[in-house]
Amino acid sequence: MNIITKKAELTTTIEKLKQEGKTVGLVPTMGALHEGHISLVKTCKEGNDVAVVSVFVNPTQFNDKEDLKRYPRTLDKDVALLEKNGCDYVFAPSVEEMYPEEDTRVFNFGYVESVMEGAKRPGHFNGVGQIVSKLFDAVQPHRAYFGMKDFQQVAVIKNMVKQLHYNLEIVPCPIIREADGLAMSSRNTLLEPEYRKNAPHIHAVLQEATKLTSEMSVDELKQWVTEEINKNPYLEVEYFEIVDDTELKTIRDWKENNVKVGCVAVYAGKIRLIDNIVF
Ligand code: PAF
Repeated sequence: MNIITKKAELTTTIEKLKQEGKTVGLVPTMGALHEGHISLVKTCKEGNDVAVVSVFVNPTQFNDKEDLKRYPRTLDKDVALLEKNGCDYVFAPSVEEMYPEEDTRVFNFGYVESVMEGAKRPGHFNGVGQIVSKLFDAVQPHRAYFGMKDFQQVAVIKNMVKQLHYNLEIVPCPIIREADGLAMSSRNTLLEPEYRKNAPHIHAVLQEATKLTSEMSVDELKQWVTEEINKNPYLEVEYFEIVDDTELKTIRDWKENNVKVGCVAVYAGKIRLIDNIVF
């Protein structure tokens, strides 16, 4: 496994591999890797000759400076884990390397960025667009892999790929959970023990909710989920929405003919967790 820190070196290395006829997959990450990331790397390696994993805590997607400051950074551990799991190239640039000057690009992802995470974290998806487009430009992968925990992010990135005519396939991968049901996230390591103990309540309530669609209207169920999660004194719901899986439009009626996804953001103390479930 090779570690590359410069964009130009990454581009020439990958270009050479592609000239040799190799297919290339990219797994963009912000490090602090867990089993969820590793499942992306394994899927990437199964589908491509070469797996590239980027590890970069992207400052432009943090709308909260404290969140950026406390985001876990564990590069040595990440590199050791990637080495064991089939990664061929780690791209771990500095902030100066990715942003030698301010990135003033403003994307318009339309409706999919205007709701849920987009509404609660202004500028977040613009920052995601900035870094992911830079990574796509540098690697020009055949495929790129993203976890479905960040369900809305996948919709935003698909929108970007279409708008900017990137010639690559976006491969969404399933959420990986801890044994107690908590969706794996780099932020889980920041949870104080009592909050960590109570955080699986989020998934438990979402699972229970999928059994109640014949008993409650969409709005009633939204209220039920919010109240059930909030009953736990360690958790506070920021939003719970049920949307369709492509346009992210609010579902009004269970009879609508589309795939319905319940998306939640919850504060566990200062740490913000997101999760989702298909109804
Ligand atoms: O999902 C993430 O970890 C980040 O948003 C991503 C896609 C690596 C961009 O920084």
